[in-house]
Amino acid sequence: MNEAAHTRQNVEKRYADAAQQAEAALCCPVEYDHKYLEVIPDEVIEKDYGCGDPSKWVMPGDTVLDLGSGTGKICFIASQVVGAEGRVIGVDMTDDMLEVARRNAPIVADRIGHDNVEFRKGRIQDLGLDLERLDAVLGEAPIASSNDFLKLADVTEDLRAQHPLIDTDSIDVVVSNCVLNLVESVQKPKLFAEIFRVLKRGGRAVISDIVSDEPVPLAMQADAHLWSGCISGAMTEEGFLKAFEDAGFHGIELVKYETRPWQTVNGIEFRSVTVRAYKGKQGACFEHNQALVYKGPFKSVLDDDGHKFDRGVRTAVCDKTFHLLQSGPYAGQFAPVAPLEAVESSEAKAFDCVKGARRHPKETKGQDYDATTEAGPCIEGTDCC
Ligand SMILES: C[S@@+](CC[C@H](N)C(=O)[O-])C[C@H]1O[C@@H](n2cnc3c(N)ncnc32)[C@H](O)[C@@H]1O
Repeated sequence: MNEAAHTRQNVEKRYADAAQQAEAALCCPVEYDHKYLEVIPDEVIEKDYGCGDPSKWVMPGDTVLDLGSGTGKICFIASQVVGAEGRVIGVDMTDDMLEVARRNAPIVADRIGHDNVEFRKGRIQDLGLDLERLDAVLGEAPIASSNDFLKLADVTEDLRAQHPLIDTDSIDVVVSNCVLNLVESVQKPKLFAEIFRVLKRGGRAVISDIVSDEPVPLAMQADAHLWSGCISGAMTEEGFLKAFEDAGFHGIELVKYETRPWQTVNGIEFRSVTVRAYKGKQGACFEHNQALVYKGPFKSVLDDDGHKFDRGVRTAVCDKTFHLLQSGPYAGQFAPVAPLEAVESSEAKAFDCVKGARRHPKETKGQDYDATTEAGPCIEGTDCC
């Protein structure tokens, strides 16, 4: 058997066992908000294999997707945070984990008074493929010949297109707790692309995972037990953030960084981090004569599109960047300078996002602007100077 298959099967077996019998070595102690734990059955809490708490960044009304939901703890916490208006979907590939989560879901629903959680079977690097639908298809038409086998790719493609496990642009927040590291290295770019695909524009990923301070050597990566124990599949802390960048996210931020390592193996430190990243910088740039002034405290900053903002400088931006950098993780960091006369969208020209170009005040006020005014209030919303 090749190394990747051996690693994958070890992950499958270890988590199937850990769903039956709690395994302490898989747990990295986490302090969850106790008020949400009260309604969650002990069996779920005891089989906690997380390393962080991404549910802290979930909001009321959100549609949440939890990748590698295990026995369901983060889903059951999120269910209470989003309330009856929101919904939560947990995805896991392990039948035994799904069995525990699904059996406990009605108990939690009964205790909190709303039923908004469901668990689906799939692999998180392939969120299009519903594995229970595939089971049903294969149950009716088992693979009995090489011809059947060759048709399988068409069957799975049809399932992804017609009955996707998770729809494109359908999720407000993708969370995950200690799972991405378990996915094989070659599949990791696909995994980040899938997270990006299922999020709505403006949606966010909040991922708690284990990262390493140095690259994990190949010999350690080949150790299937270390891999399934959330150690040797860990990405480096830099590589983890870069994977979000490569997938097209912006506003990527380490919202939690444990300075103390969870474990050190052969001198390499493994620690828990939580990263939040946003979807929504894609699209065309149009000129509306707008500028943003970066307020500091850094001398200059660079955004995920490569725009450089020097502190205090009126920097020319397109309409998309103008709005993007006043919201989400950037809110409050830039002062907006809007044109005195708005440019209609129908008349806006394509804008070449020249990096760091200054916006002359006359461009926002108008070339002929020569007003002289009475002294007004210095502070918006007040009448005195
Ligand atoms: C370390 S446990 C974390 C479980 C849960 N998030 C928690 O906080 O307790 C990893 C979980 O991810 C699931 N898993 C691992 N690799 C997966 C994959 N490629 N696709 C879907 N689920 C996966 C396992 O079955 C297991 O339930």
